[in-house]
Amino acid sequence: MDNQQTLDLPIKFLRPLVTQYNQIADSANWNRFTSIPSEGLDPESLSAGQKEAVAFCTFIEDHTPRYIEDYRKRFPIGEEVGIDRSLSNRELFHFLVRWGVEEDRHAQALAIYQVRSGIVRDQEALEEELIRENIKEFQLGFSEPVQVFTYTFLQEKATQIYYQCLSRAVKEPVLKALLLNLAKDESRHFSFFTGVLDAFVSCHGKRVLPLIQEVAGNYRMPLFSTLPDYARRAIRMGREAPGYSRKMPLQILSSHLESLSVQMPELARDLKKTSREILRENNLEVLPHASPMFHHVAMHGAHS
Ligand SMILES: [Fe+2]
Ligand SMILES: [Fe+2]
Repeated sequence: MDNQQTLDLPIKFLRPLVTQYNQIADSANWNRFTSIPSEGLDPESLSAGQKEAVAFCTFIEDHTPRYIEDYRKRFPIGEEVGIDRSLSNRELFHFLVRWGVEEDRHAQALAIYQVRSGIVRDQEALEEELIRENIKEFQLGFSEPVQVFTYTFLQEKATQIYYQCLSRAVKEPVLKALLLNLAKDESRHFSFFTGVLDAFVSCHGKRVLPLIQEVAGNYRMPLFSTLPDYARRAIRMGREAPGYSRKMPLQILSSHLESLSVQMPELARDLKKTSREILRENNLEVLPHASPMFHHVAMHGAHS
């Protein structure tokens, strides 16, 4: 795109989304320490594959400092970007720090779980293993703000679905409960990024659609290029969570754009075209509306 300035999200679009997010987030707490009691933990009921899945997710979540750092670089506050962009980046910061707290809690809770359940023997060894991955070069790619948000939309949906599906397969009660807490958080994150995506479409119209499509055409999980043996591990982790499919977030993005055409009839033709193209480029079918994965996890209370 020739003029990045025009594709920023003005503060009047961003503020209600951030406020709505934090209104719910401020009351949506669980304790990363006390929700993983050593008593009641039944490590014998964990399969080898489930232990590997927990370890894999810990790596992904533990990259939170790098994700936040990437966002901070893209959305700076300072004289170099001026008052208006600093104002909207300041607004985004209200979201970023809260989101960062929640993702960091995921990382630490999974690490604590690994220690308390005996998946790892030693917390220090685990921390060193995690930091060795953390310090590797990390880039999300994509230059346009709407693309970064689209990428995170997909990523949040992937983690939400994964934790939901894994929790159904897991018998160990403490991990099951932890995974549901994670899924609820991811569901709120996904709602925020959905709102941001919609705001970009309503603010900038069809100009953002090819940018969104480009992200869908290059969708990869984070760490796919740095984590050793990524491909094999990703296949194995998928097997542990029946119902999960790596490409389902793309089907959900496609369905979402299709459904936006009802709210934005003037863009209906372009939205439907983008929606179809996303499916075509990824060899995917339309996601049936009846699919349980189509819907968010309830934001409060028990997950259905
Ligand atoms: Fe997370
Ligand atoms: Fe998340």
